[in-house]
Amino acid sequence: METIILDANKSENIDLCAGVLKTGGTVAFSTETVYGLGANALDEDAVAGIFLIKGRQKDNPLIVHVASVDDVNPLVCDIPDLFDFLVEKFWPGPLTLIMKKSSIVPYNVTAGLDTVAVRMPDHPVALALIRAFGNPVAAPSANPSGLPSPTKAKHVLNDIGGKIPYILDGGDCDVGIESTVLDISGEIPVILRPGSVTYDELRSVIGVVDNFSSPGGSGTAGISGTLRIAESMTDATPKSPGLKYRHYSPKTPLTAVTGPPEKTADYIISRVNEGAAALMFDDFAFSHPYVMTLGRFDDHITQASLLFDTLRKLDDIGVSDIFAQVPEMDGLGFAVANRLLKAAGENIINLS
Ligand code: TXA
Ligand code: MG
Repeated sequence: METIILDANKSENIDLCAGVLKTGGTVAFSTETVYGLGANALDEDAVAGIFLIKGRQKDNPLIVHVASVDDVNPLVCDIPDLFDFLVEKFWPGPLTLIMKKSSIVPYNVTAGLDTVAVRMPDHPVALALIRAFGNPVAAPSANPSGLPSPTKAKHVLNDIGGKIPYILDGGDCDVGIESTVLDISGEIPVILRPGSVTYDELRSVIGVVDNFSSPGGSGTAGISGTLRIAESMTDATPKSPGLKYRHYSPKTPLTAVTGPPEKTADYIISRVNEGAAALMFDDFAFSHPYVMTLGRFDDHITQASLLFDTLRKLDDIGVSDIFAQVPEMDGLGFAVANRLLKAAGENIINLS
């Protein structure tokens, strides 16, 4: 089939894509994080199409996208108090929340789990599509499993062109990396995937809720904020099934180099002189056709927005190795570093 890129500013194009979803088909669409590959979340056969197009493992569950907070009610049972506080602060936006699923959510969406991941994207195109369709939309990132996520319509076309009828083009994705995934189905909230809603931002909301609900909590002092980061980020048997697979990787072998940026830059420059390509921070990079930059060392927002596009461009150079500087693991840097380390798999050099 021919894949057509549609201008999302035209409302008839939104309706065209909603029509495809209504007949059980799949379309790609822009969100603020990365492009999604959407299908009717309540139709098992439609969802099966997503797995087929992505070549995705059946034990890796999908995120269900909604256009309002109220749309979550039919999808879940047991909405924890924390949900209201989190959505008030972070929705619409790049925060995915995991709760106990209701019976209307097919088990292929959740990969057999009794929990479901939900998110309300902060993008007019995604929201308009979900509203025009009138049902929740299951959508993973619109890349074949394992490759860097798409942040431009043309990435989607390169990756899965021929397999879907339309790409709803709402421009380049602002955030550039996928949503933070937070499991609030258990006693203690757990971050399963870091994203642009950071640990500290979550902790500040969770702390206030903890304090109100703890016996004798005054709501003013002693904010606790119990929040865990999943061990699964390094574990062999992670709770978020998606975390165990190789991810975000360019086709060219990528080595992540961690440590002080002066040291990692020196090392990487020596490798570039031997013919490798590199991903470096602006303040450490040098001008070379194989060196691409990711923004300044302390500018995690730019790093996130450029990461996947730059990994794709490095791949296109066609050398046999890519080396990358890794940002500091604070704030949004934690999420950027997580994607780079996952993309590198076993290939990590620590110079600290
Ligand atoms: O920003 C995003 O989240 C993008 C856009 C399109 O919304 N979507 C995205 O979806 O990144 P995907 O499928 O590439 O990643 C979904 C992640 C996976 O790591 C998956 O394992 C996890 O969410 N996940 C989904 N449902 C889960 C559940 N019930 N329990 C644990 N993890 C879950
Ligand atoms: Mg993905």
